[in-house]
Amino acid sequence: MLRTHTCGELRITDVNKTVTLCGWLQKGRDLGGMTFIDLRDRYGITQLAFNTETNPALCEKARKCGREFVLKVTGKVIERSSKNKILTTGEIEIEVTDFDILNEAITPPFTIEEHTDGGDELRMKYRYLDLRRTTVRANLELRHQVSQQTRKFLDEQNFIEVETPVLIKSTPEGARDFVVPSRMNAGEFYALPQSPQTFKQLLMISGFDRYYQIVKCFRDEDLRADRQPEFTQIDCEMSFVEQEDILNMFEGLVKHLFKQVKGIDIENLPRMTYTDAMKFYGCDKPDTRFEMKFVELNDLAKGKGFPVFDNAELVVGVNAKGCSEYTRKQLDELTEFVKRPQVGATGLVYARVNADGTIKSSVDKFYDADALKMWAQKFDAKPGDLILILAGQADKTRKALNELRLEMGTRLGLRDVNKFSCLWVVDFPLLEFNEEENRYFAMHHPFTSPKPEDIKLLDENKLGEVRANAYDMVINGVEVGGGSVRIFNKNLQAKMFEILGFTKEEAQAQFGFLMNAFEYGAPPHAGIAFGFDRLCSLFGGADSIRDFIAFPKNNSGRDVMIDAPSSIDDKQLKELSIAVMKK
Ligand code: AMO
Repeated sequence: MLRTHTCGELRITDVNKTVTLCGWLQKGRDLGGMTFIDLRDRYGITQLAFNTETNPALCEKARKCGREFVLKVTGKVIERSSKNKILTTGEIEIEVTDFDILNEAITPPFTIEEHTDGGDELRMKYRYLDLRRTTVRANLELRHQVSQQTRKFLDEQNFIEVETPVLIKSTPEGARDFVVPSRMNAGEFYALPQSPQTFKQLLMISGFDRYYQIVKCFRDEDLRADRQPEFTQIDCEMSFVEQEDILNMFEGLVKHLFKQVKGIDIENLPRMTYTDAMKFYGCDKPDTRFEMKFVELNDLAKGKGFPVFDNAELVVGVNAKGCSEYTRKQLDELTEFVKRPQVGATGLVYARVNADGTIKSSVDKFYDADALKMWAQKFDAKPGDLILILAGQADKTRKALNELRLEMGTRLGLRDVNKFSCLWVVDFPLLEFNEEENRYFAMHHPFTSPKPEDIKLLDENKLGEVRANAYDMVINGVEVGGGSVRIFNKNLQAKMFEILGFTKEEAQAQFGFLMNAFEYGAPPHAGIAFGFDRLCSLFGGADSIRDFIAFPKNNSGRDVMIDAPSSIDDKQLKELSIAVMKK
């Protein structure tokens, strides 16, 4: 070892020891008689002291070192005269007697400090420097902890980790595939897995019983703060189980992670049906850190001559508690917010319940005091509350109100990153209709089992009403995991493909390997996959998963550090039997 201690290790009890430290020069200060250097490594910062009088040559050498130089120093631990309470090593410093410059460094393009002056793109380009910053490094340390604790829990429950292939077959369902041309099979392509779904089902048929894998998945989809083109799942599958067993097992995993990583005991997870989630929150991943449930107002709002409500399929609102004093400007802001194209409402109706109990609404012309009182009762609105109402086509209005509810939650400080509210959303529809393609798609994936009691609806052609044995885990409005009980019967699986518009031949060509495997004794099985990056960012109190991934892509799917994707030369293209593209 080049060093005896790390830069985060030495305390007042180490005074008088002779030590050797290695690290990067964080910053230097020259105070005439003394020169100080903050030496940084992964574990912390230790102050180095150089005395001009006792050792002028060493001091001169120290002064010549720039930021991010790599140093090896030897010296005596001494008590500091002015202590630094913020640093764990703040009571001591090293009186340096000898040091080597292990490497020089050019000036970094941004300051490597907690509050850096580097913009997003610059930090992405020099990601290896950004990773030197304490916050980003701490995120990766947290990620390591989450993965270690996941492995510990699952191993103790008899799960075994099996690696599945990365070069697989492209399938038409789900998101777009990333594809890889095959040199040895001209004109043919592998696909990178969107998830190891079919392989883990095959492992169940092989009898592995309890499988898991912390695994990279690839999806060529539009990117957002919580979506990366390559991301990591904690992918799991179990045999001889029912939905209840999966929910209990993985509730156990999440409780274990909260306890071990955050020191938090979480309550048993409540369950909400998909139907209720849509009705009361307008989305299938409700943020339940705060109430503000939707209240439907059709019965009281329609038929009073207000055309917007009369023509609406749904009139629905929320009670923003304590907001009756919102100013005109604040209400205008909210109206602008709901009218943004991403939200899509046509306008906002409000009713203030004043301190004296009177109610003032933006539609007083159509609703008298008694009518408004009934609104207030329905919303359980008390003096000081503000009712916010949207109206229009049902699905669109719910979606817009979901955005407004979240916005209000943020404005009112109800979405505290240190508070965690977890739940299961269950009973998802099996299928959803896609207007553009004029056909049904699997809401989760085509291997999901319908609820046994709903199978008859498949025969009755009531496809939209069939519920699935599918479930999502939602934490603070983020879908952190999802899974389902699987079909394990060849005929039912064939029927699903038929409903999804596959001909028999297409189904055989795409998924024949799985349907054939079902003929060799497939056990009942079910599983789930967690978005590992999302779990880590939640634990870290951040919205974006990027800073919990060592080398992430930007919003255009580019790695700006290595400059990927990039073109390849004609020779390579030829080898891959790909027609040479002219730029
Ligand atoms: P699903 O598609 O729901 O299920 O994915 C499981 C979880 O993975 C996370 N996730 C993502 N995280 C970051 N970036 C992305 N682009 C991204 N896409 C998904 C989410 C999601 O809940 N094979 C099934 C699981 C199963 O049925 O067992 C599957 O992949 O947190």
